[in-house]
Amino acid sequence: MYLVFLGAPGAGKGTQAVAVSKQLGLTHLASGDLFRQAQTRGDELGRQVKSYIEKGLLVPDEITIKMIQEHLERFNPEQSFILDGFPRTLEQARALDKMLSQRQKAIDRAVYIEVSPDELTTRLTGRLTCRRCQAPYHRVNSPPRVQGRCDKCGGELYTRPDDAAETIKKRIEVYLEQTAPLMDYYRKAGKLLSVNGSQDIEKVTGDIVAALAVSPGRPRPTQPTEARVKSR
Ligand code: AP5
Ligand code: MG
Ligand code: ZN
Repeated sequence: MYLVFLGAPGAGKGTQAVAVSKQLGLTHLASGDLFRQAQTRGDELGRQVKSYIEKGLLVPDEITIKMIQEHLERFNPEQSFILDGFPRTLEQARALDKMLSQRQKAIDRAVYIEVSPDELTTRLTGRLTCRRCQAPYHRVNSPPRVQGRCDKCGGELYTRPDDAAETIKKRIEVYLEQTAPLMDYYRKAGKLLSVNGSQDIEKVTGDIVAALAVSPGRPRPTQPTEARVKSR
């Protein structure tokens, strides 16, 4: 199963990708995490992307597509994965389809995590991120068991520099302009699955897993459907 997770900054893509990949045994690949790791290493890629991320802008397609392509080439084609934060532009979505079709593969589902704009800001201003494994926490909604330490790896928790109020505003604007059109791209392909992301974290995970279970494999192109998971 090949999945992409779509949603605004703070919608819970990372939180859900971690939980769903654990439950279903998938590999989680997050473009933002890969960029932050490159910055921590201080390598060429890290230097190239720093100024874009700091300003809340998208990293140019050319750099982003190349990075994802290099990672996907290392994957065994039978390995299932969740892409979190990629694609984020139409050009990236088309490039991804091309990369996969060269291996006779395709994205099965695009999971859109839907959250109201007001809630996004509350989530991002309260977020804490693990410096080592990048797991996301929230001061109120999802605190770590030990203050300042990651439950999963013991790493130090920090506030991402792009979680400053002004940068959050910019990131949401960029999302609406450049990434939201992707919804149509996957809807037209009959692959879009919308989930109500404004529920408890565990409830959202359950809804995603249940929706994937009732719609396994690739949907038939003659029946474009947008499965919507309602809160029960
Ligand atoms: P990236 O790291 O992908 O950031 P983002 O898309 O802005 O998304 P976030 O990671 O901020 O949010 P999320 O949806 O993962 O939410 P999370 O689960 O953490 O990208 C960073 C930057 O890298 C970009 O701005 C860009 O510059 C660059 N970049 C990355 N990919 C790129 C690409 N493809 N092309 C070009 N540039 C790219 O949750 C947020 C908070 O809410 C957490 O505190 C969490 O605990 C809490 N929370 C989660 N779910 C719930 C819930 N159900 N209820 C209550 N709280 C919740
Ligand atoms: Mg994330
Ligand atoms: Zn960690």
